[in-house]
Amino acid sequence: MKSITVQQPGQLVIEERPLPSPQQGEVRIRVASAGICGSDVHIYRGHNPFAKYPRVIGHEFFGHIDAIGEGVDPSRIGERVVGDPVVSCGHCYPCSVGRPNVCTELQVIGVHRDGGFSEYVTLPAKNAHLVPDCIPDNEATMVEPFTIAANICSQLQPGPLDVALVYGAGPMGLTSIQALRGVYGVKQIVVADRIDERLAMATTNGADVVINNSQLDLASELQKLGIRPTLIIDAACHPAILPEAIGLASPAARIGIMGFSAEPCVISQQAITSKEISIYSSRLNSNRFPQVIAWMMQRQIQPEKLITHQFKFTQVLEAMEIFEKDQKQCCKVLLKF
Ligand code: NAI
Ligand code: MN
Ligand code: ZN
Repeated sequence: MKSITVQQPGQLVIEERPLPSPQQGEVRIRVASAGICGSDVHIYRGHNPFAKYPRVIGHEFFGHIDAIGEGVDPSRIGERVVGDPVVSCGHCYPCSVGRPNVCTELQVIGVHRDGGFSEYVTLPAKNAHLVPDCIPDNEATMVEPFTIAANICSQLQPGPLDVALVYGAGPMGLTSIQALRGVYGVKQIVVADRIDERLAMATTNGADVVINNSQLDLASELQKLGIRPTLIIDAACHPAILPEAIGLASPAARIGIMGFSAEPCVISQQAITSKEISIYSSRLNSNRFPQVIAWMMQRQIQPEKLITHQFKFTQVLEAMEIFEKDQKQCCKVLLKF
């Protein structure tokens, strides 16, 4: 089979690999399409501290089950499925309290073990989620990015009284905006980004107010508009954002962060406690695949809006280049296998 492998940082190749056999409790997926994510680029560029090389990358993938390991129901062969990249042990403390995404033995497909940028991939049977026929292939490939939004929203519990502020209108900001609008029905959504084209996408994806915070001071713009956000999502993940968000937040607000920067930032107890602000973090997803598939079935989100490019997998270098360099036009890039 053909697989897209990062042999070492900076060196990405399409190579011939032996067809993997599903182990006990596993299924094998014949991949049909896969989405490029920022973290694939980080592994390619050597900026992911968790990655081991060589590595077949890709954690957003869709296809059908073509083989099963021992102990798996044979009727699953042929199922259209999307793969949850979170492989967990099932018995540690986080697993026991429903947080397999931070399992002490966490293995992320496409990071710690070989991923979905490949004609075939194996994974635990419970990680392969059935996709109903009403969800087209491309949308099914978008389930994983929406699980990131579902996970952070499960922490933040958005509601109709919320005025949301989302930092960043990249794929992660946009999935959050769609969920806040279409699923949770918040009162108002404000989005800040530094690129006008991305702010235009935020508007098409459900933002009410967009602010370019490279040109304008966010605090004074919000003040002019009389907005005090009650729910803030940092989908830009610069370390300077959390202190700013704490300052902008309404009393009783919730703030969700999902960045991995090792840079410290300065925050004070007073700024947090005086307004009794809750700060949540969110990593990957904890069993959110069924929830997002239901959102898609009920047409509460529009995943197709995020897909700007599609390539045959043999053009992966061109696809990665566009994804990395063209932030103005490019959002989600799919590879077809
Ligand atoms: P992206 O790079 O495509 O989008 C980030 C956006 O934020 C860009 O449009 C950029 O212009 C904007 N931005 C940068 N600094 C800003 C600032 N100070 N204020 C407002 N906007 C600013 O990235 P993507 O794929 O949308 O991911 C966003 C972040 O989420 C990344 O840092 C990524 O590492 C993280 N992430 C975390 C996950 C988790 O499970 N915790 C999962 C996926 C991504
Ligand atoms: Mn992703
Ligand atoms: Zn565990």
